[in-house]
Amino acid sequence: MKLLGYTQKELETIPEETISLGCGNPVALASLKEGETVLDLGSGAGFDCFVAAKKVGEKGKVIGVDMTPEMVQKAKAIAEKHGYNNVEFRQGEIEKLPVEDSSIDAIISNCVINLSPDKSKVFSEAYRVLKQGGRLMVSDIVIEGKLPKKIRKDLEAWAGCVAGAMEKSAYLNAIRNAGFKEVKIVSETSSDCEISEEFTGKIVSAKIEAKK
Ligand SMILES: C[S@@+](CC[C@H](N)C(=O)[O-])C[C@H]1O[C@@H](n2cnc3c(N)ncnc32)[C@H](O)[C@@H]1O
Repeated sequence: MKLLGYTQKELETIPEETISLGCGNPVALASLKEGETVLDLGSGAGFDCFVAAKKVGEKGKVIGVDMTPEMVQKAKAIAEKHGYNNVEFRQGEIEKLPVEDSSIDAIISNCVINLSPDKSKVFSEAYRVLKQGGRLMVSDIVIEGKLPKKIRKDLEAWAGCVAGAMEKSAYLNAIRNAGFKEVKIVSETSSDCEISEEFTGKIVSAKIEAKK
């Protein structure tokens, strides 16, 4: 199980079979309050949804959206097995969210938006479904510098969340262009993995927040 940034209690109480494939989302999860409605973009096996479900409690609700039927099925089975009644998993694309307008208090997402070929659409959909004053809190991979073309086309680099990653300032601008305000990087960590001698920039795991 990925330990990055989660508390020991979260790691002990969340079903182990959910295995997080993300890049760590503690800031987003820490800010959730009882009774809130939370949406997780690209929920995978549901790890962050289950952590969020404990934070928002029985009066709150968590919706996980993922495009892969197998992941949705797996997450639903885990929720049922462990009695998470306040979590719902929906199959769908984050570029076309199966979620009502202005219905969400907080959107979280852990290492998924970098995989989308249309990030602007993802951010405008996020804006649509958030309530006024609602917040977007994502952990994602962004790039400082320019990725060589051959890496952009490399399937392994796609799977490793690098090939689709956007340049950091373009990513922040895409969020602003969707209508969000107070767009900021809460924290960032540079990865020291070497992906190619031709690439002299940085791969950054960033936690980004914005408000509707
Ligand atoms: C790297 S995994 C992260 C899963 C989860 N957030 C976690 O932290 O464990 C990426 C997930 O995003 C989903 N995904 C990728 N692109 C998507 C899209 N455009 N719409 C919906 N889901 C997507 C994949 O099916 C996969 O489950």
